[in-house]
Amino acid sequence: MADTDGEQDAHHYHLDRPQQPPLFPLKGCHSLDWGIKNRLSHIFDPRTGRTVMLAVDHGYFMGPTSGLERIDIHINPLLPYANTLMCTRGVLRSLIPPTFNKGVVLRASGGPSILKELSDERLAVDMEDALRLNVAAVAVQVFIGGEYETQSVHNMTRLVDAGNRYGMPVLGVTAVGKQLARDAKYMRLATRICAELGATYVKTYFVEKDFETVAAACPVPIVIAGGKKLPEREALTMAYQAVQQGAAGVDMGRNIFQSAAPIAMIQAVGKVVHENMPPQEAYEYYLALAQSAH
Ligand code: R5P
Repeated sequence: MADTDGEQDAHHYHLDRPQQPPLFPLKGCHSLDWGIKNRLSHIFDPRTGRTVMLAVDHGYFMGPTSGLERIDIHINPLLPYANTLMCTRGVLRSLIPPTFNKGVVLRASGGPSILKELSDERLAVDMEDALRLNVAAVAVQVFIGGEYETQSVHNMTRLVDAGNRYGMPVLGVTAVGKQLARDAKYMRLATRICAELGATYVKTYFVEKDFETVAAACPVPIVIAGGKKLPEREALTMAYQAVQQGAAGVDMGRNIFQSAAPIAMIQAVGKVVHENMPPQEAYEYYLALAQSAH
C-alpha cells in the first residue's frame, strides 16, 4: 500500500487552459501512432523537422564501394554529425557500436547485385529482426517503371503492413533505373505511388526543374539521395535547393563519404539542412573545417 499520510491535495487543474494535442513537426504524419512518431523523432530532428541521414547501405548490391571499404575507419567517425544512419543489418551488427543512440534506418530489401537486373528485389529482413535491432525505420527500394515494378511495390506494401502492426516507419526509396527519366514528372509519379501505398516517408532524387512540385504532391516527408559524387559546392547547392523547395532533409552517402574531407562535409550539410545556410557560406564553412583538420 502506498503511504498516503500527509498526501498533498491536488489542485493544479488549470481549468482555464484546454489540453492541446502534442505538436508533431512532420508533414502528413498527424494520424500516425505514438510509437511511429517517436521512432520518426529519432530520424528527423524535432527542432527543425529535418534530417541528415548518412547512407552507407550501398554494399548490399555494390559491395565495398569507394569510401565504404572500412566502415569502422571511414564511417564511424562521422556518426556524431548525422541525425541517422542508414545501413544493412550485417554492417549494423558487425561494425556499428551499440552505443550509437540515434536512429538507424535499416535496409530491408535486396537480392540482385550490380551484375543483374536490380529491380528484382525481395524483402531481406523480417520485422521481428528490425525490432530486435531497435531500429527507427526500415527502407525498401521501389522500382516504378522497372522490370519488376509490381514485385517491388508489393515488397513495400508488405513491409508497410508489418510496420503498422508494430509501430515501425517505412521509408520508400524510389530507385531510378538506367532507362528511366530523372525528371519531375517521373519523381512525382514514383513518390506519390510510395506515399499512396503507405510509405511513412519517401526518398527520391533532386531534379533541377520543378522539384517543388514533387515535394508538394507527395503527402508525406521527402528526403533526397545525394547520388553520384559531385564537387562539394555543387552537392551543398543541391541539398540547399532541395530543402528550400520542400524536402525534409537528405539521405546522403557518396557526397559525404567520398568527399576529400568527410567530417567537414557532413557538418556543412547539417548547416544547410538544419540552419538554411546558403550554399556559398556552407562551402566556405566546409573549407575552413577541412583546412583546420590538416
Ligand atoms: C542506394 O544504394 C542507397 O539506397 C543509398 O542509400 C542512396 O542511394 C543514398 O546514397 P547516395 O547519396 O550515395 O546516392
